[in-house]
Amino acid sequence: MKVGLLGVTGFTGSLVAKELMARGIDFLPAGRNKQLFEQIFGNQLPEMFFIDLDQPQTLREFLSRVDIVINCIGPFNLFGDRVLDAVFEAGNKIYADIAGEQDFILQSFRTRREKVEEIGVTLTHSVAYESFLIDLIAKNFLDQSTQYQRIETFYHVEKGVLSGGSRFTMRLSSYYKVYRVSDGQLIEAKPFELSKIVNLPYVRSGQKFYFVPYPEIILFYFTYRALNINSFYLSDEFDADIFKSPKTQEFNRIIQQEQSRKRRFYPESYRKKEKFYILLHAFDQHAQQVNYLITGNDTYGLTAQLMAEFTSQILNRNDIPPGVFTPSQLVDHQQILAKLPIEITEQKNLNIN
Ligand SMILES: NC(=O)c1ccc[n+]([C@@H]2O[C@H](COP(=O)([O-])OP(=O)(O)OC[C@H]3O[C@@H](n4cnc5c(N)ncnc54)[C@H](OP(=O)(O)O)[C@@H]3O)[C@@H](O)[C@H]2O)c1
Repeated sequence: MKVGLLGVTGFTGSLVAKELMARGIDFLPAGRNKQLFEQIFGNQLPEMFFIDLDQPQTLREFLSRVDIVINCIGPFNLFGDRVLDAVFEAGNKIYADIAGEQDFILQSFRTRREKVEEIGVTLTHSVAYESFLIDLIAKNFLDQSTQYQRIETFYHVEKGVLSGGSRFTMRLSSYYKVYRVSDGQLIEAKPFELSKIVNLPYVRSGQKFYFVPYPEIILFYFTYRALNINSFYLSDEFDADIFKSPKTQEFNRIIQQEQSRKRRFYPESYRKKEKFYILLHAFDQHAQQVNYLITGNDTYGLTAQLMAEFTSQILNRNDIPPGVFTPSQLVDHQQILAKLPIEITEQKNLNIN
């Protein structure tokens, strides 16, 4: 099976390319900026396949050459449908992306399911720090037959690095719907509408985690039985304002501004200073708690490793069914977790309110 990578000159796409190379995985790199491609990769990669979403024929040609599509072109709320429409037209593909936007992902579970089964396409989203990592952890520690009162995740990042693409995505986010699960129903939500205090060692007393709509809410909704599913974020000031920003600017103006912004490539030494903490908390009907804390560095580097490990496993399987899946449903979660530079520790007697 031939792998193709869309968005190879993006901040995250270029890291994914390097992780694929490090594993000896052959792939077709695709992008629209040859000069940038040469600047990033020199002669480490064969020639870049030219694709521009504004020239749909280029995407069709790319798809005729590959079986597995890795999509790193974001924001997905803005561009995701264009790629998926072309994938559907081509049929017979395995598609994986790094989308972090709930509404785009939800559409796959709600409206794209029947179609993909008919045309032989396998669809999965968020093969990234948000939310494949927590999806793998949940597969390891949660039980699909248990009725949970709540499943919650709590994120915190120190010395955070924010890519241009993430910033662009966050600035557009208030124009799209976001969700959480309340009383067993997926309901429309608003960022920052809930808050919680958790007694974790790295959290100053009284500091609050606020509701932020991470993709795992959608993934968990379609995997586990839980009355309430929420995700929270403890802000380290670096991006809180973008998250909170209301619709103060015209949609098209944000797009123009972000598309003309010069790309910043943070070197690895800088990215490694970033430290993240993610807590998975679940509480079942017998008041039994599950609490696991995941810590690590370099969220973008980790995204690239997650995608490369995912791709490597997919290439070694010849029984991938068509359909819409959470990424952990398509892989051996323990094998991937064992390869990641993260630490997982159980937290006892957590007080969450
Ligand atoms: N879930 C997660 O944890 C996670 C992690 C990382 C990133 N992400 C998401 O991934 C997306 C990309 O992030 P990033 O940091 O890599 O952004 P980026 O550096 O801005 O890269 C965006 C990529 O999209 C390409 N692109 C944009 N418009 C295009 C078009 N019309 N035709 C062809 N290619 C086009 C760009 O091509 P050029 O190079 O030619 O401009 C570039 O390769 C964002 O939505 C971000 O939120 C999610």
